[in-house]
Amino acid sequence: MTFTAPIQLPGLTLDPQWYRKSVFYEVMVRSFVDSNGDGTGDLGGLIGKLDYLQWLGVDALWIPPIFSSPMRDGGYDIADYKSILPDFGTIDEFRELVTKAHERNMRIVIDFVINHTSDAHEWFQQSRSDPDGPYGDFYVWSDTDEKWKDIRVIFVDTEESNWTFDPVRRQFFFHRFFSHQPDLNFNNPAVHDAVFDVVRHWLGLGVDGLRLDAIPYLYESDEGNGEGEPPTHEFVKRLRAMVDQEFPGRVLIAEANQWPQEVVAFFGTEEEPECHMAFDFPVMPRIFYSLRSQSAAELERILAETVDIPEGSAWGVFLRNHDELTLEMVSEEYRQAMYGWYAYDPRMRSNIGIRRRLAPLLDNSRAELELAHALLFALKGSPFLYYGDEIGMGDNIWLPDRDASRTPMQWTPDRNAGFSTADPGKLYLPVIQSLVYNYNLVNVESQLAQSRSLLHWVRNVIHVRKSHVAFGLGSLEVVSTNHDSVLAFVRDYEGSGAPFGGDAAESILCVFSFAHNPVSVTVQLPEHAGAPLYDLFGGAEFPTVGEDGAVTLTLATQSFYWLHIGTPRRG
Ligand code: NOJ
Repeated sequence: MTFTAPIQLPGLTLDPQWYRKSVFYEVMVRSFVDSNGDGTGDLGGLIGKLDYLQWLGVDALWIPPIFSSPMRDGGYDIADYKSILPDFGTIDEFRELVTKAHERNMRIVIDFVINHTSDAHEWFQQSRSDPDGPYGDFYVWSDTDEKWKDIRVIFVDTEESNWTFDPVRRQFFFHRFFSHQPDLNFNNPAVHDAVFDVVRHWLGLGVDGLRLDAIPYLYESDEGNGEGEPPTHEFVKRLRAMVDQEFPGRVLIAEANQWPQEVVAFFGTEEEPECHMAFDFPVMPRIFYSLRSQSAAELERILAETVDIPEGSAWGVFLRNHDELTLEMVSEEYRQAMYGWYAYDPRMRSNIGIRRRLAPLLDNSRAELELAHALLFALKGSPFLYYGDEIGMGDNIWLPDRDASRTPMQWTPDRNAGFSTADPGKLYLPVIQSLVYNYNLVNVESQLAQSRSLLHWVRNVIHVRKSHVAFGLGSLEVVSTNHDSVLAFVRDYEGSGAPFGGDAAESILCVFSFAHNPVSVTVQLPEHAGAPLYDLFGGAEFPTVGEDGAVTLTLATQSFYWLHIGTPRRG
């Protein structure tokens, strides 16, 4: 019998399912807190805010790259995988971060960018200048830029081709992203060794998980489109096998911006697993679509379509992150509608997406912010928050590219929003000073002081979610309603069956109204005929499900309910 009851040690809870129950928080070190007054956020600053993150209810941090880099792509252009950019701190501070996070039972996930390096990486410098040397074959070189015409360009705003001519080597090199980010050549076994060496380095320092950046793009072939090619999956399987053997309990998270049927391949199979988690890209834009169209149909369709994933694996769900709100996973018709609603100024667009933050996207509507978060925390998968969205931070579309939503975290109404003591002109990016989102108004300190603030609301909803294991481990079944604007589903958990301290079975009805006016809706719950319903937040009793399996509810404009089905266990 497998017994998965958590074992409490000083530091981390040894729960093999931790990532399925966790609330993740993406924090860009550069943007969070500057501890030494140089205008750039750093590890020391992040360490100083671990108490805040623990208070919020965060279980795991996802930290985008902090390695040596020319910073031409937010650090995703790595010049040395093992050293930390001095602006961000030292390796000792990184160790301290891991230790102090673990003391709070908080995990650390870092980005692992192996599809490409920066052209400033020593490997590339040697590859271009010494084709016959040890790094000659580390990148994808060609005499022609005519190869693989079917492979799409991702950064369409800046790149015309996936090939760039290198005047030193006098050949073209292949790149899926910026032309300063040459792709590594995974046909070369020495590249595998180098990558494994980097994994061992960071997992050896106690890191709990790796977000596998751009993972579909490792291999190219004449036949395929360079996304999820069979050898890419073979590589991820080998990586997983090594991690399981040498670092059990650590997780791999796939960043694969694809349809669920394709992404699911990155979970592998029970016999040959690949990643523990994968981001759910299609569901995210449909949340935004529903909010404006007042129709739940498209969201319902994608939820009903969600494919089975192996036991023990999980989706990562999100509203926003450090990239543009990608619209790759919607049809052209929906994309145009989304641009019309959310990116009416061309400045708001970036590549195939929208470079805005959550609060401005939702026009700072408290009802919409609550509804969107309620969905995020109720969907199947582990939620990923983006720093600053818990206080409804704004963006700055006058900044280039995705910097629009990477501005300093707003802590206080003081100079530089309490982010840094530097001369304001020295900040890596200016703080938000717009009329509505000015840091004087939108900051952690003032929201802490208001018990009805968005920050307190988000914290509360996180704590409610975490006290119901069905949200992390349960199944999700869409149930039918008689209103096109209403989405309803049941999260159902059978219980862990563990003899002591196991989790009890529970079923939760989640109902969301996207209508811009109040509605009355009848929800069909044939399996729960006669069951009482109780609100998860205040415990109030709701109408009982009728003997015909139907229950009628009224919902205020853009509102939601999380209702316990059946009498809740007390105590
Ligand atoms: C995905 C990252 O999320 C994005 O920020 C980056 O620009 C690309 N990978 C290229 O590394």
